[in-house]
Amino acid sequence: RPRVLSGMQPTNASLHLGNYLGALRQWVALQDDHDAFYCVVDLHAITAGHDPAQLRERTRVTAAQYLAGGVDPDRSTLFVQSHVPEHAQLAWVLSCITGFGEASRMTQFKDKSARAGAESTTVGLFTYPILQAADILLYSADQVPVGEDQRQHIELTRDLGGRFNTRFGDTFVLPKAYIPEATAKIYDLQEPTAKMSKSIAGSGLIELLDAPKTIEKRIKSAVTDTGREIVADAQNKPGVTNLITILSAFSARSVAQIEQDFAGRGYGDLKKEVAAAVLDVVVPFQQRVQELLDDPAELDAVLARGAQKAHEVAAPMLATVYERVGFLAAR
Ligand code: TYM
Repeated sequence: RPRVLSGMQPTNASLHLGNYLGALRQWVALQDDHDAFYCVVDLHAITAGHDPAQLRERTRVTAAQYLAGGVDPDRSTLFVQSHVPEHAQLAWVLSCITGFGEASRMTQFKDKSARAGAESTTVGLFTYPILQAADILLYSADQVPVGEDQRQHIELTRDLGGRFNTRFGDTFVLPKAYIPEATAKIYDLQEPTAKMSKSIAGSGLIELLDAPKTIEKRIKSAVTDTGREIVADAQNKPGVTNLITILSAFSARSVAQIEQDFAGRGYGDLKKEVAAAVLDVVVPFQQRVQELLDDPAELDAVLARGAQKAHEVAAPMLATVYERVGFLAAR
């Protein structure tokens, strides 16, 4: 079975609608016929300042959301990145075959460091994509299910894996990004030309663990446009198009079908249906998350089993890498 690997940062307590549709839902679908590895990437979450107690809490909450969203720990390997030390170890080796200029071209780094300013930008933020490459290459993943914003990092992963293979012998599988078009990029509801993101904390962000009333209110006050027609047209009607995308993803109706269903109806109707479809999923999701958090010992046991399974794959790969680069075997 082909292997997939992906991860999310526990930088917020709640996942948002973009994380859910762009990533988590794809992960759940893929576990049926793939050998799946899903991790909470806590090492990545300390690159821009954080609170230790909060990080610990958010790591558990993020894992609980993977489970509540449908990741099945009996079929998929669910683990916390820092529990498997090989990620950081491989990242070091890969950083030594990464060009400074190459890393400097990562657009997420450029955006985030421009926002933070040079003095507040850490070296960890700069090397972040190299650690991500290590996450993926360690497991010989064939595919990496992510949103559109991660495409460049997957390209870097392929470049680094290929470079290592050329220099030191065939070692890594070169992964492909798995980015289904329909949900590749979910937009902010207030600013529908910007991607929905944890860093735009306005009312255009839909967090899965928000109060259902808040979610409903935010959807109902989504920015649309001055026209009246409910048709997908990303250029001229980005807000309406985003709502159609969301409704389509949640209701398993095609965009064309939705356009037909809403012919002659108003934006208010559309928003009402979007809110209902989102809440249908979110309400039981929140209950499940709460149940999981009520039993932290069980949750930690799931993560311990996952870490063990991940380690069994990661350790021999790291050993091969160490041997190929010429490190003297420890004895
Ligand atoms: P992160 O934590 O920012 O986001 C988690 C996942 O959600 C996707 N996503 C979106 N998809 C559609 N529309 C949006 N508005 C939207 N916003 C976020 C992201 O593309 C991602 O799939 N670098 C990664 C974490 C990572 C990783 C990895 C991923 C670390 N190691 C190894 C894959 C494989 C990140 O910051 O994701």
